[in-house]
Amino acid sequence: MADTHFPDIPRVDAREKVCGAPIFATDDARPDLLHAALAVSPIPRGRVLTIDTRAAQASLGVRLVFTHDDLADLQLPGFLLGGYGFQNFQPLRSPDIAYRGQPIALVVADSFEAATEAAALIQATYVEDPFWPTINSPNVEIINQTDTPLGTILTEPVAGDADAAFATAPVKIDIELTCPTQHQNPIELVATVAEWKGNKLIVHEGTQNAEGVRHGLARVLGIPAAQVEVISPFVGGGFGQKNSYQMQTALAAAAARRAGAPVKLVVPRAQLFQDASFRPTSRHHVQIGADTSGKLLAAIHEVDAQTSRHDFFPGEYTATSSRLYGWGAFRGRERLVRTDTQTPGFMRAPFEHPACFAMETAIDELAYALGQDPVELRLANDTSVDAITKRPFTSRYAGACLRRGAERFGWRARNAEPQSMRDADGAHIGWGVALGAYPGMMISSIVKLAVTRDGSVEIATGAHEMGQGMRTVIAATTARKLGVTPGSVTVTIGDTRAAPQQLTAGSWGASSAVLAAEAAADAMREALAKLTTDGVVDGRSPFEILKAAGRDCLEVETMAKAPGQSAKVFDQIRSGMMSRAGPVFEDCVSFSFIAHFVEVRVEPRLRRIRVPRVVSVADCGRVISPRTAASQVRGGVVWGIGAALREASETDPRYGGFLNTDLAEYVIPVNADIGSIDVDFVDEPDSLLESGVKSLGEVSLCGVAPAIGNAVFHATGRRLRDLPIRIEHIL
Ligand code: MOS
Repeated sequence: MADTHFPDIPRVDAREKVCGAPIFATDDARPDLLHAALAVSPIPRGRVLTIDTRAAQASLGVRLVFTHDDLADLQLPGFLLGGYGFQNFQPLRSPDIAYRGQPIALVVADSFEAATEAAALIQATYVEDPFWPTINSPNVEIINQTDTPLGTILTEPVAGDADAAFATAPVKIDIELTCPTQHQNPIELVATVAEWKGNKLIVHEGTQNAEGVRHGLARVLGIPAAQVEVISPFVGGGFGQKNSYQMQTALAAAAARRAGAPVKLVVPRAQLFQDASFRPTSRHHVQIGADTSGKLLAAIHEVDAQTSRHDFFPGEYTATSSRLYGWGAFRGRERLVRTDTQTPGFMRAPFEHPACFAMETAIDELAYALGQDPVELRLANDTSVDAITKRPFTSRYAGACLRRGAERFGWRARNAEPQSMRDADGAHIGWGVALGAYPGMMISSIVKLAVTRDGSVEIATGAHEMGQGMRTVIAATTARKLGVTPGSVTVTIGDTRAAPQQLTAGSWGASSAVLAAEAAADAMREALAKLTTDGVVDGRSPFEILKAAGRDCLEVETMAKAPGQSAKVFDQIRSGMMSRAGPVFEDCVSFSFIAHFVEVRVEPRLRRIRVPRVVSVADCGRVISPRTAASQVRGGVVWGIGAALREASETDPRYGGFLNTDLAEYVIPVNADIGSIDVDFVDEPDSLLESGVKSLGEVSLCGVAPAIGNAVFHATGRRLRDLPIRIEHIL
C-alpha cells in the first residue's frame, strides 16, 4: 500500500467552507449572549495601586465589571511544557503587572460596543518597576538553557570537538545574524464563548489543543476537568498562537458563571499582540570551518533568544541547524534572555526558520569564499547519517530536492558573480538557494471508528482543523483502507466530547492522524472479518459485510501509539498534556527537508525588492493529500517572503510592549507581493510509518528567508544578516 501514490482529492470541507457554513467560535451570535471586553495596563512592569471602575459600572448596557479583587481565586495554568498555558501567568488574579497590555479589568455588557466603551472608562494608578523589554536592553539577564529546568529535557547538540576543528580549518565563516520579534496574525482572533449548564462548563474556542484548554481551564478555575467540554470544529488559523490554554478563557467562564448567561470574549488584534504568544527575537553567532575542497569540518551555532521573566520558553534552534549537513563536528548552544513581555511561543517553524536563516546564509557565504556553486557545495556535504546521534535518517531526500529544484528553476544559467544579472529596465536580478529542515515528530491517539450499513463511516480522533486539511487527510486515509469514498467519511475532531484531543502542532498533524486513522481502520477490518464466513474483507464493501451479517453498525476504539512511546502516553493524552515522539527515535532520526530557489528583482531607483519567482521542492515522505500539501508549501513560501522582507514587531524601550499592533502597521505580504510559486514533492515514502508520511507544514517556511537573502546578495553584492531586509538596507 505504501508504494502507490495518493490521488488528488478535493478538500472534504471545501464546499462547506466556500458556502460559509462552518461556525467559528467568534461567529456565535445567539441573542442571549453577553459580550466581554478587557481593560489593559499601559505600564510594562509593576502593580496596580488603585483602580476606579465607577464610570464603567455606570455606562449604558454594562452588567458586570471584574478586577483582581473579584478573581483572586484563579489559579495558574502552568506553562505548556508540563502545564497547559501559553504562559504560566493568569491576568486578574493579582494586582501584579508582568507586561504592557496585560488585562487589569473585565467588563461584561449587552453588546460588544457597550463592553468596549466601558472598558475604556476604567481608571487605574500603578507602582512602576524597572523593566527590560528587549534582548538588547542594558543589564538584561541572560541564562544558559542548560542551567534552567529545561536543561533536564533539552540537550545541546554536540558532535566531536567543533571548536578545535574550526580553529584549524583553512576556510572559515564567522558571522552574527538576527531574526526579529514577530507575531502570528491568524484571521480568526483568539476568542471564547463560555456557557454554563448547571455545573457543566461548555467552551467554544478556536484552538489547536482542545484538551489542553479543557484541563488548563479546570486548573485555573479549580474545578474537575470532567465538568468542562471544549468544542473547536474549525480554527481560523493557529500557527502556534492557539496551541494552549489562553488567558481569556477563564475570564469568559468566570463572567458567564456570575452573569448567569453565555459570555463571548473576543480579544481584539491590538490586545493579542500583548496577550498571546509571539516569535521571540533571536541572535545567532555562526562559525563554519571547511577545507579548501568545501568539505564541512565544523560548525558552531550559538543562539540567544528571548523568553519572559515568568517562563523559560525553550530555544531549540540548533536541534535543526545541526541536521542540515554531514558536519565533521558540531556544537550548539542555547541561551535565554529574560525580558518583561508575555511569554513568547511556538510561532510557525518557531526555531527552525531562524536556525535555517542563520545557517543557510552562512553556507552561501562559504560557497562564495570557496568560489563554489552553492547547490554543489550543499550536495557534496549531504549525508544519510545524522551527525549528532550517528543514527540514520528515516529518509532523507535533501539532495533530490536540490537537484530537482535546480532543474525546474533553470539554475544552470546562473552567473555566480554578484550584480552580474540585469533586466532590460536596469533592475538587478538575483538568484538564491537555501535548504530547510524541520523535525519529524508524532503523537499517539485514541480513536473511535464506526461503520453503519446505510453507507456512512464516522471517525472521531484527537486533531484540529485549522485550514491545513486535517479532515481531508483523515478521510482520505480511512477511506482508502476501508475501500470506501472519502465523501462517505465524517470526521469529528477538535471536540473533547468525541475523543481525547491532543495538541495539533509541530507539523505532526498529518503523520499522527494518518497513524491513528490507519490503526482504527485496521481494527475495523479485523472486526469486519469476524462477521464474514471466510474472513475476507479485501474487495468487499464494509456496508455489504454489515448487511450480510444482519448488523446495523460496527464500532471500534483503538489506541494508536507513536513509535517509541509507552502506554503511559494515553493517560497523558487524557489529561491534556503534550506528549511528542521524535525527532530522535530509538534507532533513527526523522527530519523533513525542502529546497527553495528564489529569484529577486531589485528595482534600479526605488531599490524595491520583488520576488517574482520561487521554486520549492519538498521531501515530506509520502504526500497523502496533494492539493492541501501544495497549499501548505505555498503558504510557507508566502510567510517566508514576509519573514525575509516585511514582518517585525517593534518595541519602544521607553514603554515596553509592542507598537505596531495591527495589520496596517505589522506589515505582511499581500497578493501584489507574490509572484509564481512552483511546488513539487519528492513523494518518496519515509521508513518510519506504514503510511510513509513525515512532517510538512512548517518545513515549507524553513529556508525561504535565507534563499531570499542569498538572492539579494547575488543581485546587489550586499550581504544582509538582519531580518527583515528592507529598502533602506540596500539603498
Ligand atoms: Mo505550530 S508553531 O507547531 O503550532
